Amino acid sequence: MENIKAIIFDAYGTLFDVNSAAEKCKDKIGNRWEGFANYWRTTQLEYTWLRSLMKRHKNFWQVTEDSLDKSMKAYEIDSSMRNELLDLYKILLPFKEVPEVLKSLKEKDLKLAILSNGTPALLEQLVKSNNLENIFDNIFSIEEVGIYKPDSKVYDMPIKEYQINKNEVAFLSSNTWDVSGGGNYGYNSIWVNRNQNIFDNLDYNPRYKINNLLELLQLI
Ligand code: LAC
Repeated sequence: MENIKAIIFDAYGTLFDVNSAAEKCKDKIGNRWEGFANYWRTTQLEYTWLRSLMKRHKNFWQVTEDSLDKSMKAYEIDSSMRNELLDLYKILLPFKEVPEVLKSLKEKDLKLAILSNGTPALLEQLVKSNNLENIFDNIFSIEEVGIYKPDSKVYDMPIKEYQINKNEVAFLSSNTWDVSGGGNYGYNSIWVNRNQNIFDNLDYNPRYKINNLLELLQLI
């Protein structure tokens, strides 16, 4: 990839493993833990899209709690687990290649940033709990624009901050809809296809598809 000035990462699902909270409780939840984690994540995302459409914004932490409550009911999980799951969500683990890839990108003359639905406090805590606090030039939170991805106001933030063109951004997400959102906006979107998924039909084909972030080092 040429003429790239900024590498922008989605956070949840791309750098940090959203299933790691439920996975740490799998002894208590049992073998349905993965179905439960996926239900929680899907509900959380649906709530972000619905709240944006309804123009009834609540921040990502509130949406995460609301979606957890529905998911715990759906999976009949004892309410005593609520606080434990929420505390673990604040310190999600990164995917295993993430720290070394970020450290190696840091040596290049490029802006490195996170662009996420998370609140500033949540994102700061995630980065700090995983010892990644000196890596990023910026952590862009949608709270600054008050609407969730894939609204174009979100993808506008780094463009305004860095005064660069859309096609000078490499945007990485494992969430197919976020790849489509960033791509339709004008970024070079790279799909981090961690789970051998099927891509969306939303008028955008990812510029590149990689299986994990290590493969990014060959592109940049
Ligand atoms: C984020 C969600 C989309 O971090 O994963 O913005």
